[in-house]
Amino acid sequence: MAHLFTLKKVGAYTLSHRVVLAPMTRMRTIQPGDIPSPMMADFYGQRASEGGLEIIEGVSISVPARSYLGAASFYHDGQTEGWKAIANAIHAKGGRAFMQLIHGGRQSHVDMTGGVAPVAPSVVPFEGVAFTKDGFVPASPHRALEIEEIPGIIEEFRVAAQRALDAGFDGVELHGANGYLVDQFIQDGTNKRTDAYGGPIENRVRFLREAVEALISVWGADRVGVRISPSGQWGGISDSNPEATFSYVAQVLDGYKLAYLHVIEPRIKGDDTLHEDHPPVAVKYLRPHFSGPIIAAGGFDGASAEAIVAAGDADLVAFGRHFSSNPDLPYRLQHKLPLTPYVRAAFWGGDEKHYSDFPAWSPTLEPTEAE
Ligand SMILES: Cc1cc2nc3c(=O)[nH]c(=O)nc-3n(C[C@H](O)[C@H](O)[C@H](O)COP(=O)(O)O)c2cc1C
Repeated sequence: MAHLFTLKKVGAYTLSHRVVLAPMTRMRTIQPGDIPSPMMADFYGQRASEGGLEIIEGVSISVPARSYLGAASFYHDGQTEGWKAIANAIHAKGGRAFMQLIHGGRQSHVDMTGGVAPVAPSVVPFEGVAFTKDGFVPASPHRALEIEEIPGIIEEFRVAAQRALDAGFDGVELHGANGYLVDQFIQDGTNKRTDAYGGPIENRVRFLREAVEALISVWGADRVGVRISPSGQWGGISDSNPEATFSYVAQVLDGYKLAYLHVIEPRIKGDDTLHEDHPPVAVKYLRPHFSGPIIAAGGFDGASAEAIVAAGDADLVAFGRHFSSNPDLPYRLQHKLPLTPYVRAAFWGGDEKHYSDFPAWSPTLEPTEAE
């Protein structure tokens, strides 16, 4: 673990290790109003470490941006105290927290958007799901955004970024992955527009650029990261030439001197492993196009994380599922201690059980079985 546990400068911050908490929507806000709950502050506080980076679950920037009942959002003042408590819990242990900002686009349902049709760059048949009071349900039919509406959404990204700053976070991450709105603009399977936001890749990254610039206007580039998922399949997304598209995206983002680029490997589909035996490929072809820190994510364990940092293909590694059940994951990896298996049944909503009740390692910790 000689490479994972070394200092790394990431934008404005010097981190003391390279084990990052990946963003995970766990649907534990208080309803109504998506109020961040005390158990969320417990969860993030437990996973904080001195000089470690946590990326907070996708936080919707407005009501129409929401996709999942119980998921996080930050668009009204009543949420501020809850978010402050989360930032404070992380800072109390010397950790850093970037809030992931998301617009779900077509991955939504009228019950979540305040009754209006979900929006997307274009209308393209979509068979995905949203999560409402009735559980996972088919997404509602979406409509294409009018070009005049786009500045309003960019402004919502800016306002949410300002809220994150005011609540005491250390930076923001733009969710450009997993088939949500930003990704829907980037990839040509979902972007059929013929105006300045569609067609050639230079146009398809316009929405991404404008959103990134809105976040930078609040935070400065060294406190802004972007997450992408080249060849990812979550959200029914597709592109005719992912390697060319995402190499271009990486070049564009490189121009901003961001804190980091966060890359999900295509062996992962959202919350699940599609190809157990696939090596990391996306960071390999993106590395030459992005000169700043790269966070790799998706399907890593301690050994493969150490290997990818040692090889120089990534600078940091984000862990999702293993971090969900191992609050002290950096410590366990560093000391090669056994990992507690994660509990998939508790991923999408629930209470403290299998969320904020996983113990840190101790010599008396009993081994548990996955459920
Ligand atoms: C329950 C759950 C919720 C997730 N929510 C998000 C999210 O809000 N934003 C995001 O970018 N990725 C999300 N992901 C994907 C993870 O960040 C990560 O990419 C994925 O779990 C693969 O990494 P792993 O193999 O270390 O678990 C989620 C994953 C899980 C398991």
